[in-house]
Amino acid sequence: MNVVGVIGAGTMGIGIAQVAVQNNKKVIVIEVNEEVLSKSKANLFKTFEKLVEKEKVTSEQVASFKSAMTFTTQYSALKEADLVIEAIIENLEVKHSVFKKVEEIVSESCILASNTSSLSIASMSAVLNIPTRFLGIHFFNPAPLMALVEVIPGVQTNAEVTELVKTEMLAWNKKAVVVKDTPGFIVNRVARPFYGEALRIYEEGIADFATIDWAMTHFGGFKMGPFTLMDYIGNDINYTVTESVFEAFYFDPRFKPSFTQKRHKEAGLYGRKSGKGYYDYNENAQKPSPTEDVSLGKYIFDRILAMLINEAFDALFMQVASQEDIDTAMKFGVNYPKGLLQWADEIGLENILQTLTNLFEEYGEDRYRPNPLLKRKVQSVQ
Ligand SMILES: NC(=O)c1ccc[n+]([C@@H]2O[C@H](COP(=O)([O-])OP(=O)(O)OC[C@H]3O[C@@H](n4cnc5c(N)ncnc54)[C@H](O)[C@@H]3O)[C@@H](O)[C@H]2O)c1
Repeated sequence: MNVVGVIGAGTMGIGIAQVAVQNNKKVIVIEVNEEVLSKSKANLFKTFEKLVEKEKVTSEQVASFKSAMTFTTQYSALKEADLVIEAIIENLEVKHSVFKKVEEIVSESCILASNTSSLSIASMSAVLNIPTRFLGIHFFNPAPLMALVEVIPGVQTNAEVTELVKTEMLAWNKKAVVVKDTPGFIVNRVARPFYGEALRIYEEGIADFATIDWAMTHFGGFKMGPFTLMDYIGNDINYTVTESVFEAFYFDPRFKPSFTQKRHKEAGLYGRKSGKGYYDYNENAQKPSPTEDVSLGKYIFDRILAMLINEAFDALFMQVASQEDIDTAMKFGVNYPKGLLQWADEIGLENILQTLTNLFEEYGEDRYRPNPLLKRKVQSVQ
């Protein structure tokens, strides 16, 4: 694959274009909005200069990157593309119209991909003349820094296309994992309890935001606690992902969104970007102190981690991805300190099952049901 087309020069598109050009591809960036196009181009070129200052690349390399890139509003420029990655607004109708247009321009052998976070690959491929060449290539934000790429074949994708794209992503120095076309793929599905269970613990009055964050960073080694992370991602975005995963799983209570986060979203308390979320980011604001109670902290950590591990087991049980890929995805897509399935082995599967069984018995809620694969594995060693 020598020529890569990227559609959309927003946050993700421009990042993907940077990754492609730094891997010696000729890159064509298509954007409908001229202002966005020139701003994104200027920002990317500034990034290149910064990389030269940091001695990550040479100025000769930057000159070749720049000359290998085309920035345009004209779709016809995609004619020579071997691979086209779409990163436009998350709207099925708009994506359909874009792919129909692209298919009229590119060659028959050109692979078409979407960077969608929440739409199914099957639904997007439905409008294509050659759906076998279509799949998901899901980068994480910021694309140049995050190592993970989820490669998602749809029901109609040719196996060779999946293999080719996986090989290409590995050549781009990415950790490429192959994922079934299911809601949230790996990361946005398996990570849900990190937020959801933390919110539930808060709503039950067990602990405040700062204490829950302390428990997860102190006992778990997570870089950020759930509330700090939700404020960082933005409560508007994080809530919307939770809601869409919940709906896509036919309202499975495991993914039930929280009123606390909904109210924060409704009030405009998005987090860092709005100045206030669960925490106050204004200059003179005082950061609340956690209650550093060891038994409380351990309870919080054990409960959230058990829920995360249960979700990782569910993804494995439903053959969403391999054990290795599920662990790789969480380490490199959300920077977890360890893969969840490896972590489960270290703690002991019977201990995880016990934590979940206790929660299930105490609450009687389907949300806490232990995964059958976890149960089977514990039984098989007894
Ligand atoms: N932002 C994230 O963290 C993230 C992470 C992974 C995946 N994604 C997915 O990537 C995609 C893009 O997200 P984003 O955050 O970069 O959005 P964005 O709003 O930053 O950028 C989208 C860009 O596409 C342009 N655009 C819209 N319609 C177009 C068209 N028909 N042709 C060409 N350009 C068009 C818009 O003008 C805009 O500049 C979405 O599908 C999203 O779900 C986002």
